[in-house]
Amino acid sequence: MITVVGTGRVGSTLASQLAAEELDDITLIDIVKGLPQGEALDISHMATQYAADVELVGSNDYEAMAGSDLVIVVAGLARRPDMTRMDLLNKNTSIIKQVSEQIKQHAPNSKVMMITNPMDVMTYVALKATGFPANRVFGMGGMLDSSRYRNLLAKMLGVSYASVHGMVIGEHGESMTPLASRTSVNGIPLKELLDQDKMKEAVEKTRKIAAEVIALKGATFYAPAQGVVKMVESIVRDKKCVYPVCTYLTGQYGVSDVCIGVPVVLGKNGVERVIEVILEGVEKESFLKGVQSIKAAVSSIQI
Ligand code: NAI
Repeated sequence: MITVVGTGRVGSTLASQLAAEELDDITLIDIVKGLPQGEALDISHMATQYAADVELVGSNDYEAMAGSDLVIVVAGLARRPDMTRMDLLNKNTSIIKQVSEQIKQHAPNSKVMMITNPMDVMTYVALKATGFPANRVFGMGGMLDSSRYRNLLAKMLGVSYASVHGMVIGEHGESMTPLASRTSVNGIPLKELLDQDKMKEAVEKTRKIAAEVIALKGATFYAPAQGVVKMVESIVRDKKCVYPVCTYLTGQYGVSDVCIGVPVVLGKNGVERVIEVILEGVEKESFLKGVQSIKAAVSSIQI
């Protein structure tokens, strides 16, 4: 069973995408009376049309998550156009601490996937507050950032999205790190197809596009939801996909005691392996800037 805590825009959208993929039964939890119950009914009616035989239950009671294999946490405040992800820090820290206590109590064997922003910091909070092993607490951000990066590149190059392979690692925030030096068009290095200025432009646009979407429609939810679905699929089906995932580092990339996005192997045990790639020049600079920013945020909160 998969539990989604927080059934607002992102939570309900990802639950509907998970149901359509028939990945598992889903429990929805939110503090707003009626909301998770209503979403469960609506999504269940949608699943019927997909002939996706999954059960959906909505509840305002955290006990409903008992027996979950995976708890997806997307409860809390969302970013407004004038806010950075870090502005959300204090309010969401207390929500995530409270939710983590409930997960520890009701679903002690579950894996936890953090979505709430600032996601890297909230992943760290959940890791510490649950006391779960690090492979079982991780976050989604890089999947979304990578989709934006690949989308921009595909349009610049006039090729299919499916042909662009590249990852965005690092902080899910201002210092996100698109790995331009490792990006390819079906194996052809990006630098053979785009000049340096265009590559830089793609990197810069990737960093800014989230704020643009939020300014236009107030939130982002379809793309983040699909990032979650891809990760859940790799876990539930034990596919061992290599994805950019926020995970706890213990010396890899030269850093420790921080949760940040890096390539990992994602399977039934959660984060099964961290893959280390050598970072050089601006990519290393940007990654380490992200580490500093996350560590500064962590040291400013009470966990
Ligand atoms: P939303 O405001 O639509 O939904 C949040 C929901 O959380 C609400 O229904 C609220 O009642 C619920 N909630 C609040 N406290 C709760 C608690 N203690 N227990 C259970 N539910 C609780 O917000 P939206 O747009 O769905 O965003 C949710 C979070 O996801 C935000 O922090 C946002 O910044 C983040 N986000 C992260 C992304 C990523 O890539 N990691 C992408 C998009 C959003």
